[in-house]
Amino acid sequence: MRRPDDWHVHLRDGPMLAAVVNYTARQFSRAIVMPNLVPPVTTIAAAEAYRMRIASALEPGADFTPLMTCYLTDDIDPAEVARGFTHNVFTACKMYPAHATTNSALGVTDFKKIYRVFEAMERIGMPLLLHGEVTDKQIDIFDREVAFIDRILTKLIADFPALKIVLEHVTTAEAVRFVEDSGPNLASTITPHHLEINRNAMFDGGLRPHFYCLPVAKREVHRLALRRAATSGNPKFFLGTDSAPHAVSNKESACGCAGIFNAPFAMESYAKTFEEEGALNRLEAFASENGPRFYGLPLNTTRIVLERTSSQVPDFIPAASTRIVPFHAGQTLAWRFAGHADADATSLVDETGSGSAS
Ligand code: DOR
Ligand code: ZN
Repeated sequence: MRRPDDWHVHLRDGPMLAAVVNYTARQFSRAIVMPNLVPPVTTIAAAEAYRMRIASALEPGADFTPLMTCYLTDDIDPAEVARGFTHNVFTACKMYPAHATTNSALGVTDFKKIYRVFEAMERIGMPLLLHGEVTDKQIDIFDREVAFIDRILTKLIADFPALKIVLEHVTTAEAVRFVEDSGPNLASTITPHHLEINRNAMFDGGLRPHFYCLPVAKREVHRLALRRAATSGNPKFFLGTDSAPHAVSNKESACGCAGIFNAPFAMESYAKTFEEEGALNRLEAFASENGPRFYGLPLNTTRIVLERTSSQVPDFIPAASTRIVPFHAGQTLAWRFAGHADADATSLVDETGSGSAS
C-alpha cells in the first residue's frame, strides 16, 4: 500500500524521544508532532530546534518528515503563528483547553481570548487541531467530548466557517455524527486504541492503567461507531495514532498519566480492525490518502508492505533507562509491518492478487 502518515503523535524529547521516534519513522512517512513539551512549543525558534532534535534522533537513512505544530496559549502572538506557517515551520496549531490533559496547563483558558489567532489561521489556511474535551469538573469525564462539541466547537465553526479544523482522536458516536454532518472543513483522526478497546478494558479484573488515555475510551456503542467511521471510506476520517509514551512508573502510579504507546505496532493494529470489519480495501484511503488531502499536502509516492503473518508484541519496550508497556502488550497480531516496498515487492501487495511475485 501507499506509505501512510500519522496525523497525531507525541514524540516527547530528550532520551524518551530517542527511544520512541524510530518506531514512528519506520512505519510513517510524515507525522504531525504534538507540541505539549515542557515548556510547550509556542515559537518558531522552539519548533525549529525541536525539529532538529527529532532529526538527530532518527536512525541513519530514515525517510521521515516531522510536521511541527504550535501550542496555543492565551497570549500567543498571531503574527508569530502566521509567520511560522508561511515559512513552513508550523503545519498547524494545537489547542488544548487548559488542564485538559498531559502538559496542557498553559493551554487556552477561554477560546474567545484567541479569536485573533483563529482569524489569522482562517485567512492563511492553517489547520486548527483540537483536543476536544471541556475541562469543567462538573461534567462527567465520559461526557466531556460531547460537551466540547456543544459548547465550543459549534461556536467556532459558526464564527470561522472557512477555518480548517481537525477534531482529534474522536471517541464518541456523537462526535462521529457531528463530523459527518459538518462541512468539508471539519475532519477527525481516529486512534488504533479507540478502535480496539472500550472503557471496560481499564477495569478488567482490576485497574489497568495502560488502557488509560484522554479522551478516555467510552462504551462499546461508541467503539462500534468509530469502527464504522474509520472503515467507511468517508474522507473526513483519517489516521492519527495519538501514540503517547509514558515510563511504566508514571502509568503504574497512584495518579497515573494518560496515554497509550502504540507506535511500534500501529499499522498492525489498524490492519486488525480493518480486516475484522471486512474493509482492508479501505485501509489505504484512511491511512495514506484522506489525511494529506485534508491538509493539502501531496500523497506519498513510496510504498510499504503489510504482511499477513503474525507479530508478537512484547510485554515491555526498553526506553530511556526505563520501560514502556506498548499497546497490545503480550498479544499476537495477525499482521506484520514488513518494511518499505521496492519496485518488485509492490506487486506482492497488488490488491488484485495478480502481481507476479504473489
Ligand atoms: O492520552 C493522552 N496522552 N491524551 C492526550 O491528550 C495527551 C497525551 C500525552 O501527551 O501523554
Ligand atoms: Zn495526543
